[in-house]
Amino acid sequence: MSLNSFISFKHSLYALSGIFILMLYSCLQKNLFPKVESSYFGTTDDGIEIQEYSLKNNHGMVVKVISFGGIITSLEIPDDKGAIGDVVLGFNELKDYLERSPYFGALVGRYGNRIANASFELEGVTYDLEANDGVNHLHGGLKGFDKVVWEIEPKETQQGPSLILSYTSPDMEEGYPGNLSVEVVYLLTDQNELKVSYSATTDKKTVVNLTLHSYFNLSADFSKDILDHRVQILADQFLPVNNTLIPTGDFSSVKGTPFDFLSEKSIGKEIENVDEQLNRGMGYDHCFVLNDSNKGMRLAAKVVHSESGRVMEVFTDQPAIQFYTGNFLDGTLPSKQGGFYQHRTGFCLETQHYPDSPNQKNFPSTILNSGEHYQTQTIYKFSILKE
Ligand code: GLA
Repeated sequence: MSLNSFISFKHSLYALSGIFILMLYSCLQKNLFPKVESSYFGTTDDGIEIQEYSLKNNHGMVVKVISFGGIITSLEIPDDKGAIGDVVLGFNELKDYLERSPYFGALVGRYGNRIANASFELEGVTYDLEANDGVNHLHGGLKGFDKVVWEIEPKETQQGPSLILSYTSPDMEEGYPGNLSVEVVYLLTDQNELKVSYSATTDKKTVVNLTLHSYFNLSADFSKDILDHRVQILADQFLPVNNTLIPTGDFSSVKGTPFDFLSEKSIGKEIENVDEQLNRGMGYDHCFVLNDSNKGMRLAAKVVHSESGRVMEVFTDQPAIQFYTGNFLDGTLPSKQGGFYQHRTGFCLETQHYPDSPNQKNFPSTILNSGEHYQTQTIYKFSILKE
């Protein structure tokens, strides 16, 4: 063997053993650290066992989901020092989710947000819904999608571990027409993205507006409020509301108001301003009309928490986002970290259609016809602040 061919033989050996070690590492990693695990979480009052599933990526991000309400019970991400922290509010006990959750981490449907006077008309028929928020209907009613048990199928994909959640809502459930088959996919990527894809079909004309109701606190310390988080919302307009939080039908420019989040500003900066809309919402609890609604998937909002260095970006194909600053949290609900959730210790960015669309002719339609495919996606992307 010449010296040259010996050297190239040696290099091939190195390359082969390199490939072998990589394959062995990835097999070991798959087997030793499975990306989807499940464990028992609790049992509902009617005896259904609820499992908690964990999705893990290769950067220390872990998302936990239970079959009750499709609820995200925890979302762990590193801070700028590499310390992992849970950034979503929730409970340790299933019974708290069953009895008194303000939609912590839940899938919301059939209609996320409010429908005025708990009724709407479709093709000359009036549908009466449960009035579970004063005279209005909120988040799908008394037993919305946040309180049903979803079927969950874990699936490893090329993009990362995922969960496929399905639920079929029978005709007239909570007053809504049509058998509605819903599928929601949670996918965790190695880019620290949680991709949430919703799809639904119906056998009869109906209305649909699905969303996710996670309360975030990027400090991962739930004894702290969220007023120091800096928020940007790419919306030139928001929908003013009446005193029962139903949109008046007007579109207001955010310019010169506390609702201007076009450039990053802290949540606390103007939340206590004397302002009729802030007064009605007891803070921010408003639908922001996202710019570029014809562009499909685009950046809708960005949240920066300087102290921890955690950043969250929300991308969506939806026309609007409800920004809610945990104004109803009042120190009565038990925190996962001990103690109780105090006022404004979490904020929500719920991507969706406008509230009360079924009753407002000037709002984009939320009607789903039989034969049509409802399909939307929202991505929550986490990163570390580079300043
Ligand atoms: C939504 C609503 C709020 C409140 C919360 C749940 O985000 O807009 O007004 O009802 O849900 O407490």
